Amino acid sequence: MPGSRITALGHHQPDRVLTNDDLAAVVDTSDEWIRRRTGIATRRIAGPDESVTDLAAAAAGKALAAAGLDPSDIGLVTVATCSAVDRCPSIAAQVAARLGIPSAVAFDLNNGCAGFCTALACADHALRAGAARHALVIGAEKMSDVTDWTDRSTCVLLGDGAGAAVLSAAEDAGIGPVAWGSDPTRGNAVRLVDEWQPRFAQEGQAVFRWVTGELPDIARRACELAGLTPADLAGVVTHQANLRIIEALVRQLDLSPDAVVAQDVVESGNTSAASVPLALSKLVQRRELPSGAPVLLLAFGGGLSWAGQVVSCP
Ligand code: ACO
Repeated sequence: MPGSRITALGHHQPDRVLTNDDLAAVVDTSDEWIRRRTGIATRRIAGPDESVTDLAAAAAGKALAAAGLDPSDIGLVTVATCSAVDRCPSIAAQVAARLGIPSAVAFDLNNGCAGFCTALACADHALRAGAARHALVIGAEKMSDVTDWTDRSTCVLLGDGAGAAVLSAAEDAGIGPVAWGSDPTRGNAVRLVDEWQPRFAQEGQAVFRWVTGELPDIARRACELAGLTPADLAGVVTHQANLRIIEALVRQLDLSPDAVVAQDVVESGNTSAASVPLALSKLVQRRELPSGAPVLLLAFGGGLSWAGQVVSCP
């Protein structure tokens, strides 16, 4: 097959909403500080019995139903996550079991916040090579499990959730070539510290400078690989790290004034590998992005890593 396309999306978030005022009751912060520095107003937090597998399976089940496929049609399941505590069986294998997918290759992929776009490229390549006809690509995180709730500089940023895409092999390619890579010399800028009690840590200002200094060129490169310029895009869905970083990044892209820029971080916080499919699924569900419209997905984070591609909206 010459390519693959996203044919359906789904997302799932826990019911519990954690507001900035809720956080101000436990650490020395304020709604005003959090909104001004990050743009975040709320985030969703999973309950103690709600796992990454639960979040992933809920989002994937919705995407599968929306695609109108039978579980036996799915030949590849991959879950991008960096917060899952389960290592074996993989989250992808557990999702396949939950959804009754009988014989797909199922594996997890950890590339930090860049995980979903990396997994999307891997699945696209597999479908192009004929290794499967349909794939489920999921980003799912329970960041609340790896949050230091006493550290006001990070606990205000993170949230839980999952998003999923069904990819199908297609004559008419709907996923552009990926622009991806890493700068491992700056790996410590975003990390999970303490392997027995992992907690998220970052050099916030270094990450800010990296994203706003280097990611615009990567965004332009992903567009170029798809034969487009940023001005041709109907929308941009970046990793939802924080609103200031998103605004500073897209400001450099000369987008069309009509382009839709995902801002799900305001209501969902930073959900790491889940943030891109979560934000994309919501925009499509609200019909803010028309079917067939070119949208740049651009994810970045721990590694330091990045992956981005232009996709055609389902
Ligand atoms: N409430 C009130 N004050 C706070 C809070 C808080 N929640 N957090 C930090 N502060 C204080 C600090 O203690 C410090 O006070 P001091 O000057 O008296 O020491 C002051 O605010 C500045 O602290 P910084 O950590 O330097 O805060 P900064 O201005 O860098 O803002 C932020 C933090 C918003 C995270 C910023 O670094 C940023 O936008 N970084 C981009 C990276 C990012 O968003 N990462 C997300 C995860 S990584 C990823 O997804 C790729």
